[in-house]
Amino acid sequence: MATIAVIGTGYVGLTTGACFAHLGHKVICADIDEDKVARLSRGEIPIVEQGLERLVHEGIKSGNLRFVVGAAEASKDCEFHYLCVPTPQGEDGAADLSYLQAAAAQIADVLPHGSVVVNKSTVPVGSTEVVGRVLGRRDVSVVSNPEFLREGTAVDDFLNPDRVVIGSSDQEAAIRVAGLYSKVRAPIMVTDPISAETIKYAANAFLASKLSFINAVANLCEAVGADVNDVVLGMGYDHRIGKEFLHPGPGWGGSCFPKDTIALAKIAEDAGYDFSFLREVLRVNDEQFDRTAQKVLDALGPAPAGKRIGVWGLTFKAGTDDLRMSPSLEVIGRLVKAGVLVHAYDPAVKEPIGSIPELEVVDSPYVAVRGAEVLVVLTEWDDFRWLDLDEVAEQMEGRHVVDARNILDSHALKRRGFTYRGIGR
Ligand SMILES: NC(=O)c1ccc[n+]([C@@H]2O[C@H](COP(=O)([O-])OP(=O)(O)OC[C@H]3O[C@@H](n4cnc5c(N)ncnc54)[C@H](O)[C@@H]3O)[C@@H](O)[C@H]2O)c1
Repeated sequence: MATIAVIGTGYVGLTTGACFAHLGHKVICADIDEDKVARLSRGEIPIVEQGLERLVHEGIKSGNLRFVVGAAEASKDCEFHYLCVPTPQGEDGAADLSYLQAAAAQIADVLPHGSVVVNKSTVPVGSTEVVGRVLGRRDVSVVSNPEFLREGTAVDDFLNPDRVVIGSSDQEAAIRVAGLYSKVRAPIMVTDPISAETIKYAANAFLASKLSFINAVANLCEAVGADVNDVVLGMGYDHRIGKEFLHPGPGWGGSCFPKDTIALAKIAEDAGYDFSFLREVLRVNDEQFDRTAQKVLDALGPAPAGKRIGVWGLTFKAGTDDLRMSPSLEVIGRLVKAGVLVHAYDPAVKEPIGSIPELEVVDSPYVAVRGAEVLVVLTEWDDFRWLDLDEVAEQMEGRHVVDARNILDSHALKRRGFTYRGIGR
C-alpha cells in the first residue's frame, strides 16, 4: 500500500484518487477550491460520473481517501504526487502549463526525500523536464503517466484500462509507479518521457481524426444516397477498423479532443514538422457544426429569425455533465446568431449557460419542444430514444426533426407526419 497525493480533484483527479483508494492505497486529494473540498469531504460529488460516488463514499468510510485544501498540505506526507490539474489551450494553441508549474512550485519544498511526482495531466513533450526544473529537487523523480479515461465511463476505464503508459528516464521510479497498478489487469508499458507524452496526444488526435473521417463519410453518404448507419456497420466488422468512434454526429468536442489536437499540431510545428493533416481534421469538424446548424435552418424555412426550436442534449456527450467545448453549444451558438429562439433540455444540465444567455434551459424534454417548429437532437442520451412521440407531436407547432445523433426512430416519426433528417442518411 502506497501513500498518494492527488493534486486537482476534477474529472481526472477525483477519479484517480477514488480508484487508487479503492485499490487499497492511502490517498489525499487536494484542490484549491475550498468549497469543492468541503463538499467532497462530506461525500458530495460535484460531477456526473457513473460509479464515482460509490467509490468516494467507500474511500472516506475506509479511511483510504480524504480531501484537503492546497497541494502542499496533501504532498507533505506522501510518497507519490499525481498532478491532475488543467492544461487548457493557450493563446498560440500550445497547452498552457501555468497550472502545472504552479502546482509543482507549491509542493517543491514539502516533498519527502525520494518521492515521485507524476504528470497525469495531458502535457506537451518536454513537460516532465519542465516539472523537474520547477521542483529543483535532485532527490525527487518526475514520471509521466498519461490518463486515457473517457468521461461517462471514467471509473471503469481507470480500473480496467487498455494499457498503462509510464514514461521515465529513471527506471526505478517507473517500476515504483507501475507497482501502484499491481491490482489492475492491463499491459504496462514503460518508455521514455517524451514518447509517453507523445502517445497521449497521438491517441487523442487519432480518435478525433476517426470522428472527422466518419463525419465526412456521412456527408458523402448524403451526396450519393447511401445510409451511413449501414456503411459504419459494414466498415466496423473489419477488425482492422473496429466499430468504436465511428458514430457520425454534429461534430466532436469536449474538454480534450479540440485542445489536444490543436496542441499536437503546435508541438509538431515547433519541432519543424508541418502536421497539416491535423488542420484538415479540425476544419472538417468546424464544417460539421456549420452543416448541422444549416440543416436546422433549412427545416425552419426562408425566415428563421424569431422561430422557435426545441433541443435535446447540451453536454458534449451522454453520461457526463461536462459542457466544455460541447458540439451542441457550437451548433446552438450558430442558430442563436441567426435569430432562432432555442429552448433546450438535458438530463444533466439544470443551470443557464453563461456563454449563450439567449438559450433557455428547461427541465423537461416535452417543455423544450413546446411551440417549436423543429426538434433537434444534439447529444446521444439514451433517454431520448424512449420518449413519447405522440406527446412530442402534441406539444410542437411544426413537424420537423433534425436528429444529429441518428438515435430516434425515423419511421415512427414519419408515421406521425414529421420530416426527419439525420446525419448521413
Ligand atoms: N477530462 C478528461 O476526460 C480527461 C481525460 C484524460 C486526461 N485529461 C487531462 O487531465 C487534466 C485535468 O483534466 P480535468 O478534466 O480533470 O480538469 P478539471 O478542470 O475538471 O479539474 C482540474 C482541477 O484542478 C484544480 N486545481 C488547479 N490548480 C490546482 C492546484 N495548484 N492545486 C490543487 N488543485 C488545483 C481545479 O480547481 C480543478 O478542480 C488535463 O490536462 C486534461 O487534459 C482529461
